[in-house]
Amino acid sequence: MTIQQVDYNGLIPNNVGLGSDARVKRALEKWHPGYINWWKDMGPEGFQESLVYLRTAVSVDPKGWAKFDYVRMPEYRWGVLLAPQRDDRKIPFGTHKGEDVWQDVPGEYRAMLRRLVVIQGDTEPASVEQQRYLGKTAPSLYDMRNLFQVNVEEGRHLWAMVYLLQKYFGTDGREEAEALLQRRSGDPDTPRMLGAFNEQTPDWLSFFMFTFFTDRDGKMQLEALAQSGFDPLSRTCRFMLTEEAHHMFVGETGVTRIIQRTCEAMKEAGISDPYEIEKVRKLGVIDLPTIQKKANLHFSLTLDLFGNEISTNAANAFHAGLKGRYREHRLDDDHQLESKTYPVLRLIDGKIQNEDSPALSALNMRLRDDYVADCNNGVARWNKVIEQIGIPFQIKLPHVAFHRHIGEFSRTNADVDGNILSPAEWTHQRTDFLPSAADKDFIESLMKPQTEPGKFASWIAPPKVGIDNKPGDFEYVKIA
Ligand SMILES: [Fe+2]
Ligand SMILES: [Fe+2]
Repeated sequence: MTIQQVDYNGLIPNNVGLGSDARVKRALEKWHPGYINWWKDMGPEGFQESLVYLRTAVSVDPKGWAKFDYVRMPEYRWGVLLAPQRDDRKIPFGTHKGEDVWQDVPGEYRAMLRRLVVIQGDTEPASVEQQRYLGKTAPSLYDMRNLFQVNVEEGRHLWAMVYLLQKYFGTDGREEAEALLQRRSGDPDTPRMLGAFNEQTPDWLSFFMFTFFTDRDGKMQLEALAQSGFDPLSRTCRFMLTEEAHHMFVGETGVTRIIQRTCEAMKEAGISDPYEIEKVRKLGVIDLPTIQKKANLHFSLTLDLFGNEISTNAANAFHAGLKGRYREHRLDDDHQLESKTYPVLRLIDGKIQNEDSPALSALNMRLRDDYVADCNNGVARWNKVIEQIGIPFQIKLPHVAFHRHIGEFSRTNADVDGNILSPAEWTHQRTDFLPSAADKDFIESLMKPQTEPGKFASWIAPPKVGIDNKPGDFEYVKIA
């Protein structure tokens, strides 16, 4: 068996030789029923018996790793898949730079490493919980299927992290794996660990914004962990990234199709002013200023996931060789950063300004900068659609100081351009920047399910191509 081959014979498909690892196999098999219970309780509500046209990973070969077929979600083959081990891989950064990567947990870094795995792991089931009611208002079977694909893969990402916990962290790992099934998104007593994963995803615009912005944070975190000197974590994250790409595709194209539909409807109706909100809404589409507000909300919530701009945890994880930077291997420096600086945006004397800080402490800031650049590329593609149809409007990411709850700017109120507002001004202007109750009501009023094959809700354009090249009227979900 080559490493690319996935063993599908046991309960848990895997390419990590579980068949000859009785201890871990038993631990995972014991964890499995709790996972299925969690999925049935907290996974997509109302569609557990439906047949969904899903992709399942059958290999970790980048060309052709998935196969498509109809599956009932609780019967999805969630597996443990690691990207192939690279011969002679060396720790690419930090104080151990150049040493052989670790195949086992280095004792001195055990607690830090466990925490990184648990935090990543906690986000995976959280997003499934946040999205559990969306199937009921899907704008098409195509979109419903994409939602469920994202959901089962977030479930698989949980498996990926739980495998690491069970295999490498003994009793503590087992307890953490249990706790991952106990916490619940938005629960006041046992919430998920990070703020954005306790927010609601009440409608499909939120879902697409979430997959565009928040799954992209996932991508950045996975990219940083894929650099890890702890090789099993690196290999796990490398394979997760192939799945993550689809989640961002869902978000980016979802928002694109909403924008496209809005602009086309405006054109047909002869409305050229994007701020004629009531007129636009009468067309059964979402006006561009409201789309902008949703982007403001999801972008700002997601920025909080990067943590404090200045962070000793981040410095320690880098120094130890556990968590690197985005595309570490493409960066041209000493990869140790002991004497380097990095400009950090701070609030100094009531003004937002850059301050050079030790580069090691500024790693969260740096990853966030890379994230913002990546977001901007996607936003530029949205704007192309608006421009091509000829509506004078551009989506713009708000200033990083806007609407923050963590870090440097959590102590202040800034508007979308980064101007500092007084508390009274903020209260007064808040709904210019963020969705108001009326905006939410309007979006909710559009959320009527469209379950006829090939049909789409009024507010979203059909995709350019089907999943797995299926024709436009393909029945992606056979609703039971
Ligand atoms: Fe994920
Ligand atoms: Fe994701």
